[in-house]
Amino acid sequence: MIMEDKWFTLKDGRKALLRNPKEEDIEGVLEYLRVSASETEFILRYPEECGKYTYEGEKKIFEEWNSSEYDFALVCLVDGKVAGNCQIRFNRNLKTKHRASIGIALTKEYWGLGIGTQMFEAMIEIAKSKPEVTQIELEFIEGNGRARALYEKMGFRIVAVHPNFIRLKNGKLLNEYLMVKEL
Ligand SMILES: CC(C)(COP(=O)(O)OP(=O)(O)OC[C@H]1O[C@@H](n2cnc3c(N)ncnc32)[C@H](O)[C@@H]1OP(=O)(O)O)[C@@H](O)C(=O)NCCC(=O)NCCS
Repeated sequence: MIMEDKWFTLKDGRKALLRNPKEEDIEGVLEYLRVSASETEFILRYPEECGKYTYEGEKKIFEEWNSSEYDFALVCLVDGKVAGNCQIRFNRNLKTKHRASIGIALTKEYWGLGIGTQMFEAMIEIAKSKPEVTQIELEFIEGNGRARALYEKMGFRIVAVHPNFIRLKNGKLLNEYLMVKEL
């Protein structure tokens, strides 16, 4: 699914662009995937696990996201650099097509500037354009207060906990929380 490009102003006054991912973003997205994995324990990959992401793989995924009615993805560009991306995925099966799920991450230099809020507003608008979708879902890892604050601000509430969802290299186990927003 695609949307019109959207410009907005960051909290620090810079202009940022939200749009569907294009081939020219691939190198920036590959870099963002590596960097973000090294900056937070709250996403599900370590930097050395990013080797599976390739130029050709991303190209195919971008084409799928932009052409499918079940996927909607955005990148945010600041001064031409990829700050992060988000996706909302709509279920295909009859019994689950009332539900959609969201993923989002930015590199650290762009946290707290309002990008997450803008991404959520765009994803929620797309979800609301599909009458069959009545519920959006997402997860966050225990301790990720910034993500939780954003999700609560956007109307999500915790409905379940998945114990010991990830184990860090130091052996520390962390729970995952499931949040839901009814539309
Ligand atoms: C979580 C994340 C997507 C949030 O996006 P963001 O652009 O930083 O969020 P925003 O700037 O729009 O802030 C949203 C809200 O978070 C809250 N917030 C801001 N800074 C915060 C902080 N330091 N601690 C807790 N909450 C904070 C505020 O309530 C803010 O709302 P406001 O702008 O109305 O005051 C982003 O920080 C990120 O990518 N983190 C690393 C990857 C990650 O954790 N992804 C989510 C995996 S579940």
